[in-house]
Amino acid sequence: AIALRSSARTKGLLFGAAVNYNTLSSDQAYANLVAQQCAILAPALELKWDVLRPGSDQFNFTRADWMAQFARSHGMLFRGHTLVWHQGLPNWFASTVNKQNAEKYLTAHISRVAGHYAGQMHSWDVVNEAIEPQVQRADKLRSTPWLRFLGPEYIDIAFRAAAAADPRALLTYNDFGIEHDTPQAETKRTAVLRLLERLKSRGTPIQALGIQGHLFGHPDSVKFTQIRRFLRNVADLGLQIMITELDVNDQQLPRDAAVRDRAVAKIYADFLAVVLDEPAVTTIMTWGISDRYTWLASKKPREDGGRLRPLPFDAQFKPKPAWQSLASAIALA
Ligand code: G3I
Repeated sequence: AIALRSSARTKGLLFGAAVNYNTLSSDQAYANLVAQQCAILAPALELKWDVLRPGSDQFNFTRADWMAQFARSHGMLFRGHTLVWHQGLPNWFASTVNKQNAEKYLTAHISRVAGHYAGQMHSWDVVNEAIEPQVQRADKLRSTPWLRFLGPEYIDIAFRAAAAADPRALLTYNDFGIEHDTPQAETKRTAVLRLLERLKSRGTPIQALGIQGHLFGHPDSVKFTQIRRFLRNVADLGLQIMITELDVNDQQLPRDAAVRDRAVAKIYADFLAVVLDEPAVTTIMTWGISDRYTWLASKKPREDGGRLRPLPFDAQFKPKPAWQSLASAIALA
């Protein structure tokens, strides 16, 4: 079968994945699979504050640099995740960053990190997961240290700093929970669209929306009709759209592996049919690529103890029905 990186390229699309340094650097067969299938690579952990910054004045780029070199040596693009996030903050953060110095810490971090990879990054998740539909605020901005210290303007500050540090990278706002047909996802889509409109109207340098695509097998969450109009509205703002963290949590799907794989594949297919119908969608990336290594295994294990099967390749690196869904959706794009 033709690797996804090649079939996607013939359609003008990028296929790739986010993976961890530990697995990529220690499992040669896994590294081969990633290189074979992916045209774009993102470090899942290695560019977060807690990994990069062991101390408030220390930066450790070793792991991320190794991954950038891996990408380069396999002809892959490299994608940055993430400059601003309320999670993945180092222990020193809470005792060091405050209202008085927050803007300095934010802009210095972005200048240093985006500057380190300037000219080499395809795109950067500048701000990740800033919206939380449950909050009382009209703009639904999540209560994060940055919001508390700097107000909603922190988002503009971050994008401006990123543009200054790396004018060539595609600057992206990235979020989850905006994929399926539920009232909560619709509330979140509306808030994300308002945010993007506000950023564009102020001339804040943003070029893309990242939709994570952490899907799950719950019956309320397997329909994707409402996202269609949202994608069009985002495209109308002149933004590119990337699917950045696709996987399907199969925790609630049947135990039988073959039955489960077909159900997962159908969710991939139904989602991709809608998103790849939108011309502004340029990139599809999965969060991991093989069931051997998935964040869901540690965070959300199955109650029956069975191994989760959320990704396009199984734990032995054999392509699953989900891989076929990707290949077919790309072929039809
Ligand atoms: O590698 C260490 C291990 O040596 C140690 O024994 C263990 C004990 O806690 O921790 C391991 O590191 C963990 C790492 O995942 C690797 O498994 C970290 O504690 C843990 O915080 C880290 O979680 C990651 C999380 O982001 C926070 O950075 C997940 O793997 C990663 O999948 C998740 O990714 C997020 C995206 O950034 C944003 N979108 C949602 C996505 C999934 O939650």
